[in-house]
Amino acid sequence: MDASSHDVLLVGGGGAGLRAAIAAAEVNPKLSIAVVSKVYPMRSHTVSAEGGAAGVVKGDDSLDEHAYDTISGGDWLCDQDAVEAFVKEAPQELLQLERWGCPWSREPDGHIAVRAFGGMKRRRTWFAADKTGFHMLHTLFQTTLKFDPITRYDEWFVTKLLVDDGRVDGVVAIELMSGKIQAITAKAVILCTGGCGRVFPFTTNANIKNGDGMALAYRAGASLKDMEFVQYHPTGLPFTGILITEAARAEGGYLLNKDGYRYLQDYNLGKPQPNPVMRSMELGPRDRLSQAFVMEDQKGRTLATPYGSVVHLDLRHLGEKIINSKLPFVRELCLKYQNLDPVKELIPVRPVVHYMMGGVSTDMNGATPLAGLYAAGEVACVSINGANRLGSNSLSECLVFGARAGKAAALYAAEQKAADDKAMAQANDERKRLEAQFLHKQGGRERVATIREQMQKAIEKSAGIYREETSLAEGANKLFELQERYQDIVLDDRSRTFNTELEGALELGFMLDVAESIVQCALHRTESRGAHQRTDFPARDDENFLAHSLVFRKPDGSSRVEYLPVKVTRWAPGERVYGEQAPESPQQIPQAVPAGRAG
Ligand code: FUM
Repeated sequence: MDASSHDVLLVGGGGAGLRAAIAAAEVNPKLSIAVVSKVYPMRSHTVSAEGGAAGVVKGDDSLDEHAYDTISGGDWLCDQDAVEAFVKEAPQELLQLERWGCPWSREPDGHIAVRAFGGMKRRRTWFAADKTGFHMLHTLFQTTLKFDPITRYDEWFVTKLLVDDGRVDGVVAIELMSGKIQAITAKAVILCTGGCGRVFPFTTNANIKNGDGMALAYRAGASLKDMEFVQYHPTGLPFTGILITEAARAEGGYLLNKDGYRYLQDYNLGKPQPNPVMRSMELGPRDRLSQAFVMEDQKGRTLATPYGSVVHLDLRHLGEKIINSKLPFVRELCLKYQNLDPVKELIPVRPVVHYMMGGVSTDMNGATPLAGLYAAGEVACVSINGANRLGSNSLSECLVFGARAGKAAALYAAEQKAADDKAMAQANDERKRLEAQFLHKQGGRERVATIREQMQKAIEKSAGIYREETSLAEGANKLFELQERYQDIVLDDRSRTFNTELEGALELGFMLDVAESIVQCALHRTESRGAHQRTDFPARDDENFLAHSLVFRKPDGSSRVEYLPVKVTRWAPGERVYGEQAPESPQQIPQAVPAGRAG
């Protein structure tokens, strides 16, 4: 079996992975660094991020206000030490990106332009029109090219982490072009594979977002944190699930029900004002907006379409000039995928799975409890997003925690010895497993597409915007059945070259594990908080659940859920208030935590 060896190995070539690779190369130019990605890095999902990246830049804003918006938006489930580090380092990272060439949109006087975003009290979202992720990813990718020690494995699919005695020694990966199965050993591995939106049937996420890194870590013995918190973005195009960026509402777009009424005024999100008001109405947080949609639907005030109920996003009053300059991509997407022009027509939208607040449990430097294993970006849970992430925090999170993980992994790797023969023996076992289970398998009746579709339906039904015990238990049983049936999968394609059926089967295996972790965590959390709304437990319960859920894989493949207290530094848990009641000035923000509460 072939093998190659590096000091630091990045799995995933999106925003977090490339930022981590640069950080590792800067810390120690002598290290050998590799980026392995199942797609060419410029096709990573970061490329499709639209609205922007948050970081305090204006004089009327402050780090404390960014921290407070993030923590209250996350329904007090964020670790406040991580949030404080995040808001401090985000502006530095965004400026660094500017120096590397990111073309941030600017005001006429040359200052960085910032836009409003949902749940944020100040304008602090940096943007590059509405193609922010595209420009950020280009900037990062081009910057990695300057560093000779960074090697790339483009279109390689990682199937397993090599772990010996609690220490990660690298990965086994398939080169998709040739089908070669190979060990890539490393002293430190950083998972940057993004989220798992494809576990659900309707998502903004690209087909590549299958929870690979989450499942790799979970199978290797690391815990996943806060997996029950799944973010629905309020405005996806029906049928395709394509994101219509929150920037459309930040620029002044309205959400209208079937009667043309701005229904959010009925849901404690403020009243309509002549200009968009921060943290109010359409600029409220995503969890509340998606929940309001469900209520409106139950009242029969949405429109029925072949692809589910919708409301309308109205941009017509913004005019062609603003739409073309600030939201060109929104117009392009509507024209191409919905056959309508938002300058003249209403856009049908509905909530769509967009982001995982949960992920591989890490510390503030991306380290997991497994020695040598790190994670950053959406695959990780640091945790700065709590029960509900604010829009535009995630691109900045990729930069801040990508950089931190890259530095930490480089420092760790410099002190370690290379992997020994045990890693190669494990890699050989993994090759045999892949061949026996898929490529050389005799018999088998189950199909990848059938199981995938049933998994997606089951999780949407049981762990959607609203959940309750009976449907969660049904979902858990169905997933158990699908795990069993997965063992009986048969592939038609036994070839080695770009075997997409094999890749689909491996991704399905990852998604089944991740789906189970979501349902189990949702079943155990008997309260409602942020994006986790239990109709049978409608209140937030700080007494019992001001805590992160940690889900572990047991040796028999089933899961175990434990809890870890949330770290509170300066902001005591309080009520989440939006609309006119939202605290406006820093003085109104609760700051002091009673002695003994912090930590
Ligand atoms: O609506 C958006 O542009 C999404 C941004 C985000 O998820 O951060």
